[in-house]
Order: sequence, then C-alpha cells, then structure tokens
Amino acid sequence: MEAAVAKSLTGSPGDPAAGRKAFADKKLGNCLACHANQDMSEQLFHGEVGPPLDGVGSRYEPAQLRAILVNSKAVFGPDTVMPGFYSLEVGKNVAKTFVGKTILTADQVESIVAYLSTLKQPAN
Ligand code: HEC
Repeated sequence: MEAAVAKSLTGSPGDPAAGRKAFADKKLGNCLACHANQDMSEQLFHGEVGPPLDGVGSRYEPAQLRAILVNSKAVFGPDTVMPGFYSLEVGKNVAKTFVGKTILTADQVESIVAYLSTLKQPAN
C-alpha cells in the first residue's frame, strides 16, 4: 500500500486508551460495526463488512493507518463502504449530520492510530 500520511495531524502522539474507546463508540469511530477485533472480546457485536483488525499494527505502519482513517476513499477507491473519517468525502451512507464536517477530530484520529498500532500479530 503506497498511501501514507507521515505527520501526526495534531503534532503529537495519540492516546491509545482514548483510541480504544473511540473505536468502539457508536457515535465516534463505530469501527466495530464493520470490523471484528479480538482485543475487544468484551463487546458482544463485531461486524464482518471489513476485514478483522487483529494484528493490523503489524501489517501497516502508523503513516498508512493514518492515511486509511483520514480518507479511506483515497486508499481503497471511491466505492469503499468505509467512511473517510477526517475528510469531507465521508461517503454515501453516512448520517446527514456529518455532511460538511469530519466524523472524527484530528485528536481522535491520532488516538485511534495509536490504538491500532498496539494490535500486533502474536509471534508464534
Ligand atoms: C461501514 C463499514 C466500515 C466502517 C464503519 C469502518 N470500516 Fe474500516 N474497512 C471497511 C472495509 C470494507 C475495508 C476493506 C477495504 C475495502 O475493500 O473497501 C476496511 C479496511 C480497513 C483497514 C485496512 C485493513 C486491512 O487489513 O487491510 C483498516 C486499518 C480499517 N478499515 C480501520 C477502520 C477503523 C479504525 C474504523 C473506525 C474508525 C473503520 N475502519 C470503520 C469498512 C468499514
């Protein structure tokens, strides 16, 4: 994958604990609606629309994770169902309240990048 956003959007590292919360929060990332994540086995519902994110921190560099979160359309193409979380190109099936706004703040994006980076593939 070539897309990368190297620089932190806030200029400082995100907080993985806050990112973990935003990942599961239906009003924020709502990532679990589409992505299974074994690190969140306490949550009952895990979606299957997107790939499971177990070990995603070993598959992608933070700069790549940031690019995916900021604007999934630029990475996966305009038809991806994944919303662009820090872009005005939020997507087609996104609540009207987000039109003309980004879904997440820069701070929330950085926290989720930091959290995803902790999801390492177990060495076996
Ligand atoms: C509406 C469903 C949906 C939501 C919500 C969603 N995604 Fe995705 N995501 C996808 C799909 C589908 C893909 C696979 C790319 C494609 O084919 O479009 C994907 C791909 C990814 C990938 C690349 C995974 C890999 O192994 O290649 C990452 C990382 C990711 N999403 C993170 C997130 C995070 C973090 C959130 C929450 C902030 C999120 N996604 C919210 C649907 C979603």
